[in-house]
Formats: sequence, C-alpha cells, structure tokens
Amino acid sequence: MAYSQISDAAKKIGKEILIHGWIHRKRESGGIMFIVVRDRSGIVQAAIKKASISEKEWNEATDAPIESSISIKGTVKEDSRAPTGYEVEVKNFKQINSSAPFPITEYQSTELLLDKRHLWLRSRKMTEIMKTRSYMFRYVREFLDKHGFFEITPPIITSSGGETGAEMFEINYYGQKAYLTESSQLYAEAMIYSLEKVYSFVPSFRAEKSRTVKHLAEYWHLEPEMAYHSNEKSMEVQEKLISHIAEKVAKNNEGQLKEMGANKDDLLKIKPPFKKVTYEKAIEILNDKGKSLKWGDDFGVEEEKLLTEDEDKPIFITYWPKELKPFYMPINPKDERTVLCADMQAPHGHGEIIGGSERIWKEDQLMERFASVEKAKGIKFNMDNYEWYLDLSRYGSVQHSGFGMGMERVIKWMLNLDHIRDAIPFPRMMNRINP
Ligand code: 4AD
Ligand code: MG
Repeated sequence: MAYSQISDAAKKIGKEILIHGWIHRKRESGGIMFIVVRDRSGIVQAAIKKASISEKEWNEATDAPIESSISIKGTVKEDSRAPTGYEVEVKNFKQINSSAPFPITEYQSTELLLDKRHLWLRSRKMTEIMKTRSYMFRYVREFLDKHGFFEITPPIITSSGGETGAEMFEINYYGQKAYLTESSQLYAEAMIYSLEKVYSFVPSFRAEKSRTVKHLAEYWHLEPEMAYHSNEKSMEVQEKLISHIAEKVAKNNEGQLKEMGANKDDLLKIKPPFKKVTYEKAIEILNDKGKSLKWGDDFGVEEEKLLTEDEDKPIFITYWPKELKPFYMPINPKDERTVLCADMQAPHGHGEIIGGSERIWKEDQLMERFASVEKAKGIKFNMDNYEWYLDLSRYGSVQHSGFGMGMERVIKWMLNLDHIRDAIPFPRMMNRINP
C-alpha cells in the first residue's frame, strides 16, 4: 500500500490509509491511546485501542516518545472531538525510529528556540513558514519567466562592492583581500548586453552592525536588471511582481496564512499602481508628524513606520538625495540634487523591501559620480576593481534599470512575522552563526 499525506485523510473518510509521520503529541485514557501525528502536510489524531491491536504493537506505541518516527495504518473516521474533525482508527502501528527526549517543550525562550533551530524547524509554525517561503520563491520565478527574463548565476566572491563597500565580509582569497557579495547588480548589468532582461536570485551578505527585526547578515536577494527600461518602467515591473506574489500567496496559501494569523484579504488588495512619494514630500510628511528632519537625512525604522502606518499597499519613495545613494545612480535632470531611483516600502512599518534605480550608462557621467561619491563620503575607490564595469559603458551601452528585493523582508511582511529571522531556516545575524 502506498503511503498518503495526512492532508489526504479528509478525502478518505471510511477508507484505509497508510501514514508515515512523527509523534507530535500523545496521551492515553482507559485503554485508548491518542497520538497526534504530523507530517509535512498537517496533523491528524490517531486512536489506538489496546483491544484491537497486537500486544507488541501496543507496547511499542506506549513506549514511543514524542518525535519518534512512526508508520500507521488504519481507517479514517469522522469524529468531532478530534482536532481536525476526523481521526484514524489504527490497525497497525510501527515505530520506525525512537526519539531521545525532545529538548523543546511548550514554553521556551527565543534563545533556546534559536539554539535548537534545527529541531524547532519541525514546529507547526516553522513548517508552514518554510512551505510558504518555498512557494514564494516559485511565484517570483514564475513571474520573471512569464515576463521574458533569463536567470543568471553571478559570483558570490568579489573583489569589491557596489553599494557602500563598508559593510562587507572580508575573506582571504589565496592571500588577497576579497569579499562576500553585497549585491549582484554589477554582474547583472554586464549580462544585459547579451540577455537584455536578466535576474539573479542568490544570497547577499551585509556586515552591518544592526540588531533590528529586519536585518540579516545573509539574505536572499532577487536582482532583476532590464535593458531599455527607465526608472519608471522598472517601478511598473516592481509593482506587478509584488502584486503577483501577494495574489498567489492569498489564493494558494490560505492555510499557511491562517496558521500565521495573517489575512488573505489584505494581500488581495495589493494591486498596481502603488503610491509614489518623492523623498522631498516624505520629509514634509514626516515633519508634519512631529519629526524634525532636514534635506539629506536618511530614514530609519521610526521614519519608515510613520510613512507607511496608514497604508494598505506598499509605497515608492522616489528621487533621493544623491549623497545617500551609490555611484551607479544617474542624476535626475529635473532636480540635480537627486538621483533617478525609488525604494519600495512595505505597508504598516514592515520596512524597505525593494531598492532600485536607473543606471548610469555613459562613461563620463560614471566618472563624475565616482568622484562626487568619493568627495562626499571621504573615501577612495580602487578603480582597478571597477575597470571592467567602466568597460560596460564603453561598448554600445544602453539605458537600463534594475532593482533588488530582499526575499525575507517580503516574507516577513506578507506573513506578518515579528522578526525577519523566522523568514529563513538558519538565520545569520550579528550574534548568531550556529546552527
Ligand atoms: O537597497 P539595497 O542595498 O540595494 C542594492 O543592493 C541594489 N544593488 C539593488 C539593485 O538595484 N539591484 O538592497 C536591496 C534590498 C533592500 O531593499 C532590502 O529589501 C534588502 O535588499 N536588504 C536586506 N534584507 C535583509 N537583511 C539586510 N541586512 C538587508 N539589506 C538589504
Ligand atoms: Mg536600500
């Protein structure tokens, strides 16, 4: 007999089923043992009557600790007292392997759950988050496939950065200084000259010393790059992508959303167009709300929250001061204090989920921006490392734009998680590298 997923039991009322799973909970009362079994699809109650099973099987079931792996065969019966409304009346019980006493019991500190992350991943909550995460990766790729993108695979080890450079993890590369990539954008830009519309979807690494609920040292970074796209056209792609993910999660992952206390209807509201607010206007809004910001100030958690607390959909903050943004962003011809860029903020203070911009594609403009960033930040670029990037602007370059989306930020927002660490199986944070 082939084994079934627990979720199939609902369709097999009155029929026999074979399940492989793990003991989630267990109790005995008056010659009947109730075992809540879990597998990846859900949980079901299994009722074992001492009278209708061999003594050997009964003893095995009695001795099996929580988290033992088991195999059960029985008939599915409706029962309103069971957690799911039906239960399996067990005819055969087999322990596949016993479990040592499980270190995670009902109320545990966050620290212990992180120390035992490899085991905590079995919890109902983490199981449903990891499932949704996998689906969301699929929805992203589905969208990009449909819109004619090629997936590319950039290097993870790099000689230099594209963002600020100051927040990278250094590694020893055969005696030479190298870094774990903070963004694959520059490589994606190289590849538009053969593939036109590309994306990379690999981890980025940030050594920023931030202990916030939205910072990981290693996160999954989606970076599309598109030839012949202006900043505006790129924003259209972004709002369509985010709306696609939201709609798919709402329609296909209702069960997971419920488990997380997140609301399907909230996600169904996410449809283009998204509101666009200039950086200048954002400063005004924030100052009206009691802040005292001036031109050139960056936004932190508090500002992001104030800007999005009343929003149901993400919003774009556009045209930031050039001093706050990297060398590859072109000056805005309509306001030369700013660059052609936009950040997307998730609603209700979940923070920045996308950063994007048009890219400079003329060599002289690029050199000017390198010089002005050096001046503004008091740094010196090692131009040897950027020679190849400058080449891109020398051989038939074209207008192009792209963006970077932090996958865990999007998961955190859509599943309404308190902390970004739960959006990834093995979080890497300032104070954690184990397990
Ligand atoms: O805004 P960022 O730094 O932009 C770039 O890296 C560009 N090169 C992207 C591009 O245009 N191709 O990062 C992009 C996104 C942020 O909006 C955020 O969602 C996410 O990456 N992100 C982080 N996610 C988790 N933990 C961190 N420490 C993150 N830092 C950035
Ligand atoms: Mg950013």
